[in-house]
Amino acid sequence: MHDMTAENLRSAFGGESMAHMRYQAWGDVADYDGKPDIARLFRAISYAERVHATNHFVELRDCPGEELVPSAAVFGIGEAHENLQGALAGETYEITEMYPAFLAVARYQGEEGAIKSFSYALAAEKEHKKLFLKAKEAAETGSDMQLGTVGICRVCGYTIEGDIPEKCPICNAGKDRFEAFQP
Ligand SMILES: [Fe+2]
Ligand SMILES: [Fe+2]
Repeated sequence: MHDMTAENLRSAFGGESMAHMRYQAWGDVADYDGKPDIARLFRAISYAERVHATNHFVELRDCPGEELVPSAAVFGIGEAHENLQGALAGETYEITEMYPAFLAVARYQGEEGAIKSFSYALAAEKEHKKLFLKAKEAAETGSDMQLGTVGICRVCGYTIEGDIPEKCPICNAGKDRFEAFQP
């Protein structure tokens, strides 16, 4: 694999790993704050970020090595709406800057595995942003959000609220490959 794509996969692994843990922590805060649906949204999306981190890690299977991983990150614990604003900042960065740039490099370098892994993540982050926006609007009024079942594709991390589709629209995996986070 080309060095720059490998570095981008490592950075994305770092970013997704931290997002996974950050959302777990912010989910606990939302529970403590009496907002179980926002807590469930954080946990569902945390699971999706874990799928992305794992996919990036697997793509690096033939690129062993040790290095410090620079990665954009958000820190801090606040009220639900502040944590959701942090989540939105992270998702927006991934959608508008990080994944499009990583994808452009991977395409230039002809790295098919990385193209797939980055594309899967980019598609899911767009759904995450929509759901976090909905949650933030509720949290700003001091309320919990109204959230149906959230389905996460275990293959690509695709995220959907409501009925789980027969086939994942991003990776084509069957319904049985979805993890459901139910009310
Ligand atoms: Fe995300
Ligand atoms: Fe999928």
